[in-house]
Amino acid sequence: MGSARAGQQAGRRNAVFVTGATGFLGSPTPHRPLAHNPPARVYALIRHVDRWPAFAARLPPGRVIPIAGDLREPGLGLDAADRLTLARDVGRVVHLAADIIFSRALAESRATNVGGTQHLLDAARGWPALTQFIHVSSAFVAGRRMGRIAERANGPEAGWVNPYEQSKSEAECLVRVSSLPWLFLRPTTVVCDDVTGAITQINAVHVALRMMYAGVVPLLPGDRDTLLDVVPVDYIAEAVVRALAGAAPTGSTLHLCAGRGAAPPGGLPEWTWGAWAASRPWRPPMLTWYHSEPFLSTPRMPMCPT
Ligand SMILES: NC(=O)c1ccc[n+]([C@@H]2O[C@H](COP(=O)([O-])OP(=O)(O)OC[C@H]3O[C@@H](n4cnc5c(N)ncnc54)[C@H](OP(=O)(O)O)[C@@H]3O)[C@@H](O)[C@H]2O)c1
Repeated sequence: MGSARAGQQAGRRNAVFVTGATGFLGSPTPHRPLAHNPPARVYALIRHVDRWPAFAARLPPGRVIPIAGDLREPGLGLDAADRLTLARDVGRVVHLAADIIFSRALAESRATNVGGTQHLLDAARGWPALTQFIHVSSAFVAGRRMGRIAERANGPEAGWVNPYEQSKSEAECLVRVSSLPWLFLRPTTVVCDDVTGAITQINAVHVALRMMYAGVVPLLPGDRDTLLDVVPVDYIAEAVVRALAGAAPTGSTLHLCAGRGAAPPGGLPEWTWGAWAASRPWRPPMLTWYHSEPFLSTPRMPMCPT
C-alpha cells in the first residue's frame, strides 16, 4: 500500500465524530481539527440533513461528512451503513449537542441532554478505535454551589437553578462512570465572536442587558461584588482543537472561563451603556424586544435565583 493511501486510512480511522456541529459553539469547530491534522476527517451528526449544505459551504470539500441521526433516538437513529462506517473510523468524539433552553421541563431537558448522551455513550462503546471522548459540559453544572468551584465532579447537594443545569450535571455523571476515555470541557457563558464581536446566539447575558436598557436593572440578581464570567466562542473552539491535539490528559475536567479576567462589578453594563450612548443604531425599538422574546414571558427568569 502506498504511503499516501496508508496515511489516508490512518486519518480515516482517527476520524472525529462531532455532535452539535450546527450550533453556536459547534459551527466554527468542525473544520479546525482538519487544519491541524490534515488527514483526519470529521463525521457530524445532523438532525436536519436538508440544512447541511449551508454549513458545508464553509468547510473544506469532502472532509466533513454529515451523518443523519438524532441523539434522542436509540442507536442515534443511525442507518446500518453509517453504524458500520463510524465503528470502523471514529477515533475521537466531541459531544457538543444539547438542549440549552433553560425554561424546558426537566423531562424534556433530560431527553436530549441525559438520554441523548446515554445513546451516544452506547454507540461509542462499539467504536474500537476510540481514544478520546470530549464532552462539552457547562460550568453551571455547579448549580447553586457558591465560592470557588473545583475542576471535578460537583455532586448534587447544592441543587440547580434550572432543568438545563440539572440535566447537564446528570449527563456528566453518566460520562464519568462510563469506561470511555473522557475529558470534560466546561464553558461559562459564551457571548460573542472574539474578533468581530458578532452575537449569533441571544442568551441570558444579552437578555439581562436588554432589561438594563429597559430600566428594570434592579431586577437583576447580584451586587457590586458579583463578577460576570463570559467568554468568546472562538476561545471554546480553540480549546476543543487543543483538547483533540492532546493538550489535556484523559480524565481531566477543564473550566473554560474568563477566571481572573471576569468582568468587574458594573463592568459589562457600563461598557454596554457606553456603546448604546455612543451609537444610535445600537438601540433597537424597546417594545418589540418584549413582544418578540418568549424567553422574557416565561414565569421564571433564567438569571434569577428561585
Ligand atoms: N452557549 C453557551 O453559552 C454555552 C455555555 C456553556 C456550555 N455550553 C454547552 O455547549 C454545547 C453547545 O451549546 P450551543 O450554544 O452551541 O448550543 P446550540 O447553539 O443550541 O446548538 C445545539 C446543537 O445541538 C444539536 N442538537 C440538539 N438536539 C439534538 C438532537 N436531539 N440530536 C442531534 N443534535 C441535536 C443542534 O442541532 P440542530 O441544528 O438540529 O438544532 C445544534 O447543533 C452544549 O452542550 C451546551 O450545554 C454552551
